[in-house]
Amino acid sequence: MKRIGIVLAIAACVALVTGPAWGQDSAKAAPAKAAAKHQYVGETKCKMCHKAEYESWMTTKHAKAWASLKPEEQKKAECNECHMTGKTASDSILVNVGCESCHGPGSDYKAMNTMKNAKLAAEAGLMPITEATCTRCHNKKSPNFKEFDLTKAKDPAAGGVHKHSPKATKG
Ligand code: HEC
Ligand code: HEC
Ligand code: HEC
Ligand code: HEC
Repeated sequence: MKRIGIVLAIAACVALVTGPAWGQDSAKAAPAKAAAKHQYVGETKCKMCHKAEYESWMTTKHAKAWASLKPEEQKKAECNECHMTGKTASDSILVNVGCESCHGPGSDYKAMNTMKNAKLAAEAGLMPITEATCTRCHNKKSPNFKEFDLTKAKDPAAGGVHKHSPKATKG
């Protein structure tokens, strides 16, 4: 029991430092980088086990969000922050709105035995989808903002979210 308590306490701390606004804490968190912090790994890592979601995601607007920016806009934080996912541990930029923009940075939950256990996966950074998952980008800071309705926007027919498979494809 004691051990579980410690693990939960660590998970809570990690959740606190791992805000969705990656760009804001990346500089501040630099000295603590060795400490546990979930990192973005990129959608090709998820594809191994979630081929159906990956292929469906490829057809969504999120998978093409980077190309909507002109080259000079891609360099500006005021534009790129919502048209990209984040940076990997080695500072490569993950362009487009990838899996982890909605599901959370995957470095610590992507292992098979963690993924198979919903509780462990949540502790390792897999996030539930709420309205806030979307409205951190779908808000008035976007120059092209359209009113956001979660129920409508979550429907794959709206062009944002991948189609759902009844079960994740086992890797
Ligand atoms: C090694 C294989 C593997 C990798 C890599 C992997 N997953 Fe999973 N994932 C699974 C398995 C297995 C499940 C559980 C499926 C089930 O219970 O039917 C799962 C479940 C999920 C779920 C559903 C959780 C729920 O609430 O039911 C999501 C969302 C998810 N994975 C996202 C991701 C994302 C995003 C990535 C990449 C960062 C990723 N996975 C990488 C194997 C993997
Ligand atoms: C990291 C930022 C970000 C997050 C998080 C995000 N989106 Fe988006 N979304 C975008 C961008 C950018 C576009 C526009 C892509 C393009 O056309 O270039 C978009 C486009 C869309 C579209 C298509 C809109 C249209 O006008 O055709 C839908 C639907 C959508 N998102 C739904 C969602 C939903 C639902 C969620 C949450 C589960 C979500 N998005 C989370 C950034 C985001
Ligand atoms: C706060 C997040 C955010 C920021 C910052 C942002 N965008 Fe977007 N952008 C979005 C979302 C979300 C959409 C999808 C439209 C919608 O449904 O609201 C989008 C859509 C677009 C589109 C597609 C046009 C359309 O009508 O679908 C273009 C082009 C675009 N943005 C350019 C830019 C440029 C240029 C900047 C910087 C000046 C920028 N964006 C800054 C979130 C953002
Ligand atoms: C725009 C946000 C968004 C993006 C990007 C996204 N997902 Fe999802 N994902 C969802 C939503 C919404 C659900 C439905 C679960 C819910 O509503 O709680 C979901 C469900 C899932 C599930 C559970 C099984 C299923 O098919 O419903 C898996 C696995 C999954 N996503 C994997 C992925 C992978 C892999 C990627 C990238 C290739 C990805 N997702 C990209 C929003 C997103």
